[in-house]
Amino acid sequence: AICRLFFITRVFMKNIVVLISGEGSNLQAMIDACASGQISGKICAVISNNADAYGLVRAKKAGIPSFIFERKAYETYQAMDQAIASQIELIGADLIVLAGYMNILTPAFTQRFAGKILNIHPSLLPKYSGLDTYQRAMTDGETEHGMTIHFVNEIVDGGSIILQAKVPIFPEDEIEDVIARVQEQEHRYYPLVIAWFCADRLKEVDGKAYLDGKPLPPEDYGNEE
Ligand code: GRF
Repeated sequence: AICRLFFITRVFMKNIVVLISGEGSNLQAMIDACASGQISGKICAVISNNADAYGLVRAKKAGIPSFIFERKAYETYQAMDQAIASQIELIGADLIVLAGYMNILTPAFTQRFAGKILNIHPSLLPKYSGLDTYQRAMTDGETEHGMTIHFVNEIVDGGSIILQAKVPIFPEDEIEDVIARVQEQEHRYYPLVIAWFCADRLKEVDGKAYLDGKPLPPEDYGNEE
């Protein structure tokens, strides 16, 4: 019976690869969600383009193998992405999760793994795609900010939206206050979305995201856990 159980978990558990560049607080949220059983999946590798990323320490502590691909080791971004893609195929990943990965993936990479790459972005897309989203939102005097989880395609921050969460910006806020508020939402909802994917509930069809066969509305429906 133990053998059978092993077989069943092997068949149904999705293999997840997480790409990071830095702190890895979202990676930690995923590690915790796998451990608690919220995600029926296994993080089988962490890939970093930065050898000093603190997320690598988190991976090691959790017993997850990690691989480093630094830009300086390759002539082009294409060559680097090709090496990463080969590693991912060797691992046999079902899902690629970008969690603070600070490189733009080449179209060859995003097309190869279409419908299998997720990203989290600290803004309410399509507003504030790109870098420095907090600073830009605050300079513009926005009264709200947030995060977006989306499928990845070749347009940067442009793939189909899965889930968004809003937070307020108060007049007396420092940038750190807004970052903390947004990250709380990230750590709450990224594991949830990954759990949906691993349970085969979340799909991308013709550039649109579907949950349980229903098209996902563009924002603020994260309450149905
Ligand atoms: C997150 O805030 C995410 O929105 C952005 O990069 C940050 C990564 O943080 N893409 P961490 O490395 O997960 O702590």
